[in-house]
Amino acid sequence: MTTIKKINNSNIKLAVKALNEGNLISFPTETVYGLGGDATNDLAIAKIFETKNRPKFNPLIIHFSSFDQIEKNCEINDEVRKLNTLFWPGPMTIILKKKKDSKICDLASAGLNTIGVRIPENKSALKLIELFKKPLAAPSANKSLSLSPTKASHVFEYFENDKNLSIILDDGPTKIGLESTILNLIGNEIHVLRHGGLSLDELRKNFPLKEIIDEQNSKNRILAPGMLKKHYSPNVPLRINAKKAKNNELLIGFGPNYNSPNLSFKGDLVEAASNLFSFLAKYQKKYPRIAIAPIPEEGIGKAINDRIKRASKN
Ligand code: TXA
Ligand code: MG
Repeated sequence: MTTIKKINNSNIKLAVKALNEGNLISFPTETVYGLGGDATNDLAIAKIFETKNRPKFNPLIIHFSSFDQIEKNCEINDEVRKLNTLFWPGPMTIILKKKKDSKICDLASAGLNTIGVRIPENKSALKLIELFKKPLAAPSANKSLSLSPTKASHVFEYFENDKNLSIILDDGPTKIGLESTILNLIGNEIHVLRHGGLSLDELRKNFPLKEIIDEQNSKNRILAPGMLKKHYSPNVPLRINAKKAKNNELLIGFGPNYNSPNLSFKGDLVEAASNLFSFLAKYQKKYPRIAIAPIPEEGIGKAINDRIKRASKN
């Protein structure tokens, strides 16, 4: 059962408890309401994809309560420091290189070695992340292809009966009502991957010497949110729909008819999704080829198949 609760100290504590149990919560930011889960817990992240009904694993934006917390997880330079001083907390997301010892899980960044990070401005959201002590992965709290929620009641309409989401923290309508602007810093250029709450004029005013490239409106864009060309794929050949291992191949199973390693012995697709990226990362170091057993094309299985199908064609 999903309930709307006014955001206050005791309900924030309830939300922290739910997050610690690996469940999802919805919380207000200044842009739109987010569907939050523990960014260090693959299973919680798999629940986000399942709940949103996303047919693909896009990397998720990771929400932090302080710049210190970002520095622990990402490579930082002077540019990022300047952007932080000017625009965080606020509606800006920056794609940063993930540090090797970061605990952000593989599924949250869809296997990439970069993460999209931001510090939201909503005071209660910051308090929630601070109390939780870990970063929160959060896409907008809507079903895939539906409008982003700017009120708690919108979130409720989407997820009223969702088993993974118990609490929607209500802080009234969001201030901006539009997602954050996503930036990628490449050399002397700031690439805008998604337009949003932070305007390009504001950026231009503060970085007069920088080239600000509007990738979203450029014909030959390299990266666009949700349509990243460079998707993660293992650096060894991958074969899908495999029932048996061939020579020199490791077979990753699914369901009770397969041995270990197994994405989910009980045939649970959410558990399988939570293991996918970490298994591939681990076993590509040990085996020259990997095969994966058939995965049912239903629910989050569609996102698993989408990803391994692409990877198998590389
Ligand atoms: O305003 C917002 O940004 C809202 C609120 C809840 O904070 N969040 C949001 O998150 O819109 P989400 O997860 O729906 O946005 C994800 C977008 C994706 O389309 C993805 O392509 C891009 O951010 N993104 C995330 N990590 C990335 C990465 N490492 N590289 C490139 N793009 C990335
Ligand atoms: Mg969205």
